Amino acid sequence: MAGKIVIYGATGGIGSETARLLQQRGFQLHLTGRDEAALTALAQELGATSTVGDVTQSGFCSQVAQEAGEVLAGLVYGVGTIHLKPLPRFSETDFLRDFQVNALGAALAVQAALPALRKNPEPASVVFFSSVAVSQGFAFHASIGMAKGAVEGLTRSLAAELAPKIRVNAIAPSLTRTKLAAGILANEQTATAIAGLHPLQRLGTAADMAGLVAFLLGSEAGWMTGQVIGVDGGRSTLRTKG
Ligand SMILES: NC(=O)c1ccc[n+]([C@@H]2O[C@H](COP(=O)([O-])OP(=O)(O)OC[C@H]3O[C@@H](n4cnc5c(N)ncnc54)[C@H](OP(=O)(O)O)[C@@H]3O)[C@@H](O)[C@H]2O)c1
Repeated sequence: MAGKIVIYGATGGIGSETARLLQQRGFQLHLTGRDEAALTALAQELGATSTVGDVTQSGFCSQVAQEAGEVLAGLVYGVGTIHLKPLPRFSETDFLRDFQVNALGAALAVQAALPALRKNPEPASVVFFSSVAVSQGFAFHASIGMAKGAVEGLTRSLAAELAPKIRVNAIAPSLTRTKLAAGILANEQTATAIAGLHPLQRLGTAADMAGLVAFLLGSEAGWMTGQVIGVDGGRSTLRTKG
């Protein structure tokens, strides 16, 4: 594969696991993140280039595209938030912020990278992250459910618009042990109870997600585009009791 893979949110749980797996499989990487020290250390460990910054900063995605190189084989948008509360407690700013970080950032990242993705000799591949909360409808998920619903719409729209040169797919995880979920999983009893709601009786791991990202980026997934794939222990589709 000629071009690099850009990973947004590379210092996150899923982002860093994905970066390590891709490096082991021989991909060249360009990493982004907000935490300069963590990003620099990861980039050094993996022999990657990097750009530090916040996706809500104007011009950040253009800077990433400039620094990532002229040809890109893929882009992974692993940036995300989770703010769970009852509807009356959400401010307009909360909703807008979740939309900006999860959905708008994903669109701007691909927009900025488009010329380089188009230059890849093989079809390039984009991977977004949705959430099981889009198909399932969980209480207190109004803001993230709405923002990730937009990511699913973006996945299908861009998959149609950018075919056949660029494939676009999304992964919809259920609760996965990373920094994002740390607040929800701080209490072990709660964590065990939530794990038990999954037919496969455990929470997700970053490795569960990274394996699918690597598959979607590679040529084995060369006939897949416009898909939203649940990696969720069966939670989105199965009922094992009753
Ligand atoms: N973990 C789950 O249960 C779960 C469930 C469903 C969907 N997802 C999705 O999976 C993806 C990866 O999440 P994760 O579990 O790996 O979470 P994570 O460990 O918290 O990683 C999220 C990453 O997003 C970055 N980020 C957040 N706001 C940002 C901003 N404004 N600008 C730039 N970067 C920003 C974080 O940067 P910092 O390191 O600087 O904070 C971090 O690197 C996300 O899209 C998330 O929504 C996760």
